Amino acid sequence: MTQRSDRMENLADARFDALLGAAVDAILVIDDKGVIETFNKAAEKLFGYPAADILGQNVSVLMPEPYRSEHDSYIARHLRTGENRIIGIGREVKGQNANGDVFPLDLSVGAIHHGTRKKFVGIIRDIRERKKTEGMLRQQQERLEHVTRLGTLGEMAAGIAHEINQPLTAIATYAQAARRLISSGQLEEERLLEILGKTGAQAERAGEIIRRIRNLARKQPAERERHDLVAVVQEALRLAEVDARLYGVRIEFREHEDLPPAWIDPVQIQQVVLNLIRNAIETVPASRQIVIQASNRGREEVVVEVSDDGPGIPEDLISEIFNPFFSTKELGTGMGLSISRSIVSAHGGRLEAKNNPTGGASFSIVLPTAVSN
Ligand SMILES: Nc1ncnc2c1ncn2[C@@H]1O[C@H](COP(=O)(O)OP(=O)(O)OP(=O)(O)O)[C@@H](O)[C@H]1O
Ligand SMILES: [Mg+2]
Repeated sequence: MTQRSDRMENLADARFDALLGAAVDAILVIDDKGVIETFNKAAEKLFGYPAADILGQNVSVLMPEPYRSEHDSYIARHLRTGENRIIGIGREVKGQNANGDVFPLDLSVGAIHHGTRKKFVGIIRDIRERKKTEGMLRQQQERLEHVTRLGTLGEMAAGIAHEINQPLTAIATYAQAARRLISSGQLEEERLLEILGKTGAQAERAGEIIRRIRNLARKQPAERERHDLVAVVQEALRLAEVDARLYGVRIEFREHEDLPPAWIDPVQIQQVVLNLIRNAIETVPASRQIVIQASNRGREEVVVEVSDDGPGIPEDLISEIFNPFFSTKELGTGMGLSISRSIVSAHGGRLEAKNNPTGGASFSIVLPTAVSN
């Protein structure tokens, strides 16, 4: 070899060494028998062997079984067939360090033709951290999905409990009234029939609610029709009658003539009105009077306002009362307003709350009219 080419080779070696030393990845070179010829600083750190101890050894010492015993045959097969199972592809493999710990690695291999013999450069990246992060992310994802499922289920269950509880309470109250009537010895047949009629109506209502929930689960669109809001409020009033009497609250309905019809699911909107009336009845201290007023804001919107003369809503809670599960009542589910708001929103309307200047709270159901232009 000439002096010049000697110098060139030395220079190339020096550059190569500098590169190897600076590389973050572990880099090693093996010959066609798997014997380690180069082992850089990062490799020393990763595998825990000083280069001096590892040079000249078979690369298989850096692998756990079964790869350790099989590695020589991998190289032999490649040399025989020219088939590339890893060269130029790279893959995730397992390594074993001086302490015997096994860990995941990303390995990419390049072949160097050195005269008639082949050598192989392996670039190795430690992926323990990445694996840990991936595992954590996967776990978090699973936990999140579980929580979301539970949350939706919990909200559904609370919603169902809330809606079914109302007719059931009414049925229990009617049954009690019928028992009292019978045991008092003054059995008025007509009164008893009336009570039984109301009991039946409540049971039908519970059935209707279940039917609607089934529809909801099937994701069917709500059953909307052009409907008179006054009739909806009257129906809700009839259902609230028992409670109002029980609490000694008077309800006044200020009807509005020529109220434009709305495009609604009457059973759902009736449920909203009933929720608002029940809330107004249940205030502590109790309201004495509830005023329901139907009106329209121009041709576009119809409004049903339920006002009471109870304590009103504490100003700092006004934004919270619509949250699911927010309740100041011992036995409240806190779902009433949350369900009501989502029903009204689904109708393209709004449910608004404010305190009256004269005291008490006021809730407005604002719905778009069904007036054809
Ligand atoms: N008319 C009102 N006056 C004062 N506070 C009200 C009124 N209506 C609702 N609130 C407040 O908003 C809270 C949430 O009402 P919401 O109807 O969502 O649940 P709830 O009435 O507590 O429980 P549930 O509806 O299951 O009986 C109530 O607990 C109460 O603190
Ligand atoms: Mg309520």
